[in-house]
Amino acid sequence: MDVIVGGGVVGLSIAWRMAREGRPVTVVDPAPASGASHAAAGMLAPVSEVTYTEGPLLRLGVASLRRWPSFAAELAADAGFEAVGGEPATRGLDLRSDGTLDVAFGADDLAALDELAAYMDKLGLRVERLTGRECRRLEPMLAPSVRGGLLAPGDAWVDPRRVTAALLTALERLGVPLVRARATELLRDGGTVVGVRLAPPDKSGGPGSAPVASGGGARAEEPAELAAERVVLAAGAWSAGLAEVPVRPVKGQIMRLRSPQPLLGRCVRGTVHGSPVYLVPRGDGELVVGATQEEMGFDTRVTAGGLYELLRDARELVPGVTELEVADVVAGLRPGTPDNLPVIGPSGTPGLTLATGHHRGGVLLAPLTAAVLLGEESELAALCSPGRFREIS
Ligand code: GLY
Repeated sequence: MDVIVGGGVVGLSIAWRMAREGRPVTVVDPAPASGASHAAAGMLAPVSEVTYTEGPLLRLGVASLRRWPSFAAELAADAGFEAVGGEPATRGLDLRSDGTLDVAFGADDLAALDELAAYMDKLGLRVERLTGRECRRLEPMLAPSVRGGLLAPGDAWVDPRRVTAALLTALERLGVPLVRARATELLRDGGTVVGVRLAPPDKSGGPGSAPVASGGGARAEEPAELAAERVVLAAGAWSAGLAEVPVRPVKGQIMRLRSPQPLLGRCVRGTVHGSPVYLVPRGDGELVVGATQEEMGFDTRVTAGGLYELLRDARELVPGVTELEVADVVAGLRPGTPDNLPVIGPSGTPGLTLATGHHRGGVLLAPLTAAVLLGEESELAALCSPGRFREIS
């Protein structure tokens, strides 16, 4: 049996794809779907998130974005979602493919968009350069000071909270055990990983305190050790606590606003006061504003300064945001790596596979990650191989 440590979007996706193939798998997490996946905005936007130095990440993102429509359709079916009123069942995940509009205010920003457009063109990726007026025709709530933009029409987005809820439902329907406990240590036999030690049960009932399992055939209380033929470490920013992997927490504060009518038709992003800000509209009128990027260790406090910066910058893009109700504020920890690429594949230690380090792209890269571990993407697997760090150390 494989044990997946980590019940975020990456770990749950791997477990679901493996279970669909009939492979025995168990997920271990004290509080599934409550970490970075709960905070994430869910942009499936490899094109508009790209920078010049991140060609390999772009390749991974584009490949994973291609996988998203069938991944979502199969997930919606396995979770029991149905098409409603002419809308596909994937609307239950709020999957939308209306593109991202990257906007610019000043001459420098416009020049940067021109360069980005040329780079995309060279890579054969579809983008459209727009004037300020064309941007406002697409998105009438944009500020009058927006002078131009770059539309990536192929970018998409999804609601990560709905995705993880659907994954948990699908796993339950497939009878996959979910052990609600914290993995504290990898168990080894000689040099081979043979399982995980779980946080000992206590009676507090708090998240992660007592190892309690649910799912097909599982006992109510699990032993404090879980044997595995293979452990797949998908614990995001917490992965480095269990194995030698260069992953660090990168804090992101993010805000959810609510409006009676959707304010935007597509994702809008821009750089304001030197920092990037994005707005992601949900089908139900929610508008996600994100996100800070802070090197603060395992700090998940939501701060006045973080929220101030988000709102200040979002207002520059879309002045109307200040009228909206605040629905939710949260801070998550992205698992950052030295080269911003994920770490996916055999660790070099027998019995241990890594699926972590997805930094800003966990939701986007979840389908690809599962595919890599199932051996479906051997060429791209080389880009995220854990071996690259062994080679340079
Ligand atoms: N993917 C966007 C973020 O991490 O803020």
